[in-house]
Parts: sequence; C-alpha cells; structure tokens
Amino acid sequence: MRVALGSDHGGFTLKEEIKSYLEKEGIEYKDFGTNSTDSCDYPDIALPVAQGVASGEFDRGILICGTGIGIGIAANKVRGIRAALCHDTFSARASREHNDANILTMGERVIGRGLALDIVDVWINTDFSGGRHQRRVDKINDIENK
Ligand code: RB5
Repeated sequence: MRVALGSDHGGFTLKEEIKSYLEKEGIEYKDFGTNSTDSCDYPDIALPVAQGVASGEFDRGILICGTGIGIGIAANKVRGIRAALCHDTFSARASREHNDANILTMGERVIGRGLALDIVDVWINTDFSGGRHQRRVDKINDIENK
C-alpha cells in the first residue's frame, strides 16, 4: 500500500508521529508537507494529497490539521475523494467498511497521539465491505457527475 500524507502547521507534530508508525509497519508513504509548525494554508496541502489518491498514484491518504475539518473539506472537493474525519476507532472502521473512505482526516488539537495512532492502524487495516455499500458509494459518484 502507498499512502499520501500531509498536514498544515496545526497537524505537523501528529503527522510526524504517523510517519514513525508507517515506517514501523513497513508501509510506503510520501510526505507532502508541511515541514514545520510555521503557519501555512491547509488547502495547499490537501490538494496534492487528494489528487495523488484520486489519480491512483496512492492507495490512501491521511491529512491532519488542527481540527481535521478544513483539510477534509478541501480534499473532498477533488473528484473521487471520500475523506472521512474520524476521532474514534468505530468511525474509522465504518468509514472503510461502509464508505470506502480513501482519505482519513484527524485534528491534532482534538485527540491525543495514542488514540490517533490506533485510528490510523484500524483505518489502514480495514477493507471496504462492498455489497449494499457499493451501491451507496456509486450514488455518491453519481452526484459528482451531476
Ligand atoms: C489553523 O489554525 C487551523 O484553522 C487549521 O489547522 C484547521 O483546524 C482548519 O480546519
């Protein structure tokens, strides 16, 4: 699996923790920045990560900002992206099984490192269930084409 990873300044520290997790698990990733806690604009990071996932260059994306909200809103503007804000493992699992979420977003100012890494672990290791859920995802895709 290839993961596209990015954050703004509000998510920089958690992004670095997630990099350590991915390295420990032997999961290939590309870091799209940001590279420090200096202020930047989350859409500038969301766009290349979302485009990388939408194009198929990456299987999944993980985006972090202060709340996980802005960076997820931006990512969801890219056709084919289903970015899910998850701050608990139940939602993380469901976002994969039911929604085939291809980007996970979290807020560094919302949850701690331990829970965040558990969420990443569940999200990375859960497959889409398909079936009736595929029909619903297809209807989301239809909305994009209207
Ligand atoms: C940056 O201060 C903050 O607004 C950003 O990280 C994020 O929380 C936006 O949704």
